[in-house]
Amino acid sequence: MLNDLEQILITEEQLKDRVAELGKTLAEDYKGKEPLLLCILKGSSVFFADIARAMNIPLEMDFIAVSSYGAQTMSSGKIKMKKDIEQSIYGKDVLIIEDIIDTGYTLTYLKQLLLERNPASLKICTLLNKEARRVAPIKPDYVGFEIDDYFVVGYGLDYNEKYRNLPLIGVLKQEIYSE
Ligand code: PRP
Repeated sequence: MLNDLEQILITEEQLKDRVAELGKTLAEDYKGKEPLLLCILKGSSVFFADIARAMNIPLEMDFIAVSSYGAQTMSSGKIKMKKDIEQSIYGKDVLIIEDIIDTGYTLTYLKQLLLERNPASLKICTLLNKEARRVAPIKPDYVGFEIDDYFVVGYGLDYNEKYRNLPLIGVLKQEIYSE
């Protein structure tokens, strides 16, 4: 898998350090609140498991699956709900955990949908923020790393469902996705 990368953007160690730091901040901010951490499948699964364990406070977990890209590298703006949460989020402090915000379409859709259900609060934590590609004006509350406009894979992020299990974030060689 490493051979398919043009460069390593964020090492395993950098990820570990930043996730630990972010987890500490979140634990302080949500102290006494028992937040509901919402994992946006599938990309955020790896980050979700790590950030939840880096937060040393009681919390709940739930999972939602939406899709925008299909097998493409570009977001279409059309978001599909594939799996909704089963519980009510009314009155809960919901924290969305995302792997990456790119165009912002996914989170714009999700935020609107979830706000209609009247949570006590709704915040967004994203591991990666690709501001350069933003179309919908969505602002995350917590960001792991700001990144430039690279096509990144690893640590949950895929290309055609591959590379999610890479323990680092890498830039995919262009020849792989333009084949
Ligand atoms: C990716 C990523 C985000 C979204 C970000 O998910 O996990 O949810 O795209 O892009 P946007 O800001 O342009 O909407 P994807 O739809 O590829 O599904 P996956 O998480 O299952 O890989």
